[in-house]
Amino acid sequence: MSTDPESNTVECAGKTAGGRACALRDACGSRASALREIRRWATADRMPEESDGISLARSVTEHVRGKGKHFLSDRVRVMLSDIRRRHGVDRPFLDAFLDCVLDKHEGRFQNRTYLALPVLELLMDHRDAALSADRMSTLLMADVVRFEIEAAAGSPAGSGRDRPDAATLSTRLRHALRLVPTGLGAPEADDLPSRLAHTPRSRLEGLADGLPRPPANDRARWFDVTVQPVSVVHDEYFFIRVLQTHEMHFTAMVESVKKVIGALRAGNPEGAAELVERVVVMFERAATLFRVVATMRAEQFSAFRQYTQGASAIQSEQYKRFEGLCGVPTVPRLRSSAFTSVPVVRAESEDPGHDTVTRAYRELRNAGGPGRAGWDRLDTAISRLESGHQRWKSAHRGLAARMLGDAHGSGYTDGVPYLTRCLENRLFWQLDTSA
Ligand code: HEM
Repeated sequence: MSTDPESNTVECAGKTAGGRACALRDACGSRASALREIRRWATADRMPEESDGISLARSVTEHVRGKGKHFLSDRVRVMLSDIRRRHGVDRPFLDAFLDCVLDKHEGRFQNRTYLALPVLELLMDHRDAALSADRMSTLLMADVVRFEIEAAAGSPAGSGRDRPDAATLSTRLRHALRLVPTGLGAPEADDLPSRLAHTPRSRLEGLADGLPRPPANDRARWFDVTVQPVSVVHDEYFFIRVLQTHEMHFTAMVESVKKVIGALRAGNPEGAAELVERVVVMFERAATLFRVVATMRAEQFSAFRQYTQGASAIQSEQYKRFEGLCGVPTVPRLRSSAFTSVPVVRAESEDPGHDTVTRAYRELRNAGGPGRAGWDRLDTAISRLESGHQRWKSAHRGLAARMLGDAHGSGYTDGVPYLTRCLENRLFWQLDTSA
């Protein structure tokens, strides 16, 4: 093996000192060809007009996953920023993709770019896309399962040497599969983790065949390049996918809460109750994500967390938007880093014309809206949503306490004490639904 001094990439001669085939040869070979491809684009006068840049994005992804985004060499960064300037203008996917890859090096590293949300949003923001937030969340978790299965099928000496042991993998897949309506059929899906333990490595990949995949169109090819880890730690891949899934769950919940407000404005508490009941179910699914993350060892987490400072889920706009649509948060909460980290959502919540479930509920009730049955059902549903939110926060705090101890948060709060204080907040603090 030799080291390419320019890229700090290990170039592989294909044989170990003892003359055996090197287990790293495939990974090294494809990394070297990815770098060649980046160089080729950097020196190309023009990109073919019909190209949206996906082949370049694949090479960049290969390179980033082989090194970690934090470790890109200056030369590669300069090449990528030059490519973006010359070829990104009329190519929205390539432009958004390179913006995310270059975030750290341009001093704009945030939750949004760490999670490649601009690229995922472009995938959903299209008339023909047929990719709702709900469908996207399924695809993201299916991708976690596929990634783990493929890694388990790979060489124990190759990349992903720090991947989970068989028992941990089995637990991770079991929890992840709960969020994936698989084409495997329920008994087969339930059985997947135990089959994993007993299936020869060479046949593991076949097990992933029944998992949902992105649609077969040009845009959806960008799905595969939406994980840009800052490190080469195996577990960072699924962690990113879980946080992306969290964003999708909350995007779907935001849409549902808007419908709740619409039902109340239409004078229909019964219809609002039915919609809130659906949000309760969605919240429970969102909380399942913590079980998936709990399969990560604290050492694995801290191995990549040291490079994610500045990107925190405290910057998640959809989480706060959901909260702000339930009811305007208290003044201390609006002034805390919870909302100063999301200035756009804070401005929405502070707008005097901003409508919320709390506001619509109170106005309809004060106006002597329809009979009692609908209100009872709505009160019960709202109480269940509040309890679900409390459970979500407790589970999150518990996970953070285990993983973080007394370290501060990557969003610069004091960490677990901040999350403990968050337990005091209520979504519907201005409503009394207990009567
Ligand atoms: C290893 C696991 C995790 C740790 C240690 C952790 C830690 C933290 C900390 C310390 C904060 C406070 C803000 C900060 O300073 O960064 C925070 C906020 C937040 N985290 Fe996590 N987190 C973890 C996983 C997750 C996951 C998996 C999700 C989503 C499924 C998530 C969603 C959030 C949200 C939405 C906030 C903002 C809460 C608020 O401000 O009210 N976190 N997290």
